[in-house]
Amino acid sequence: MGILAEDGAAHPRITPVSLTAGKIVTTSAEETLAYGRRLAAGMRPPQLVFLSGDLGAGKTTLAKGIISGLGAAREEEVTSPTFTLVHEFRGPVRVFHIDLYRIEGRADLQTLGLDDLFASPAIVLVEWPERWSLATDWPVLQVRLTALPNDTHSIELVTRDPEASG
Ligand SMILES: Nc1ncnc2c1ncn2[C@@H]1O[C@H](COP(=O)(O)OP(=O)(O)OP(=O)(O)O)[C@@H](O)[C@H]1O
Ligand SMILES: [Mg+2]
Repeated sequence: MGILAEDGAAHPRITPVSLTAGKIVTTSAEETLAYGRRLAAGMRPPQLVFLSGDLGAGKTTLAKGIISGLGAAREEEVTSPTFTLVHEFRGPVRVFHIDLYRIEGRADLQTLGLDDLFASPAIVLVEWPERWSLATDWPVLQVRLTALPNDTHSIELVTRDPEASG
């Protein structure tokens, strides 16, 4: 199935979330997955998505929802790239899922083995984006996740100046 229905609407059964500032709270991992799928329905490449938050904040869980929502992989195929650094998915859209937790200092494309990352439009999801230093004019969606008591997690979309570093 392609990302676009014939009338051009993405995922007609899913209500897209517009990629503007806002905050929601979910009360289960399944709700965060569903929110990720709704975010995906509003995304078009090229798009850089920064997923920030502490260990266990829900970054990978949200990434699973986004990547499955994009039709690039099934939910269970999306695992944490903590040790591999980068997972690439080739579906209707090119998707990269990057985790910089284990990167010392700031990442460059050679460290990541991604010389052609920006060569064609893609959706690029980055966990631990504080360690990201690659300049691009792609639009950036900044998502800040926070774990709260009792399986509650907050998910905040922040608008961000694409020219700013880090
Ligand atoms: N409302 C919720 N939203 C997201 N995750 C939840 C929620 N409730 C419980 N969880 C659980 O919290 C954990 C979140 O882990 P996840 O791997 O997504 O975090 P992470 O931010 O990627 O961590 P890391 O920094 O280690 O990569 C998962 O085990 C998930 O099932
Ligand atoms: Mg993670």
